Amino acid sequence: MEVRQVDNPDVQRQKVEDIISAYRDKPGALIPVLHEIQNALGYLPRWVQYRVSNIMNIPVSEVNSIISFYALFSEKPKGEYAIGVCKGTACYVRGADKIIEKLEEELGIEAGDTTPDGKFSIEVMRCLGACGLGPVMVINDDIYTRIKPDKVKDIINAIRQKDGSETT
Ligand code: FES
Repeated sequence: MEVRQVDNPDVQRQKVEDIISAYRDKPGALIPVLHEIQNALGYLPRWVQYRVSNIMNIPVSEVNSIISFYALFSEKPKGEYAIGVCKGTACYVRGADKIIEKLEEELGIEAGDTTPDGKFSIEVMRCLGACGLGPVMVINDDIYTRIKPDKVKDIINAIRQKDGSETT
C-alpha cells in the first residue's frame, strides 16, 4: 500500500499556500480547497483552518464546521491503516459499538485517535450506504461487512503480519 511521506513544515506550508492561491477567487471553493489540502497533508490541522479562513475571507468557525460535518475530512493525522466504523442507524443496531470497543481494546486507543506509531487510526463514520451488510468497517480501501466483534483481533493481526509489525 501507499505510505504517505510526511513533508517538513515549510513544504507543508508551501503546498497549502499554493492550493489556496489556485482557488482564492473562485466562489464556492471551500470544499475543493479543503479536499486538496487533506489529500496533500493527510489532515486539516488548526493552522490550516486559520490560513484558509484568512486568505479566503471565510470565518474560521465556518471552515471548522465544514470539516466536522464531512466524514472525509479530519483534524487529526490518520494512521497508515485508517479504520472507519460506520455508526449509522442500521450498523448501530447490528452492534457497531461492540466493533469499536474491540478495536479500541486491540489497538489501545480511543475512537478518533491514532496509535503512537502512526500505524492505525479509528474513526467513527456516518452511513456508508451498505446498511444491509452492517456492521460495516473500512480499512483504507478495503470494506469489511457483517463484522463480528471476535473477528476484529484477527483482522488487525492479519494487517500487522502483512505489514511486518508484531501480532499479539
Ligand atoms: S448504517 Fe452503516 S452502512 Fe448504512
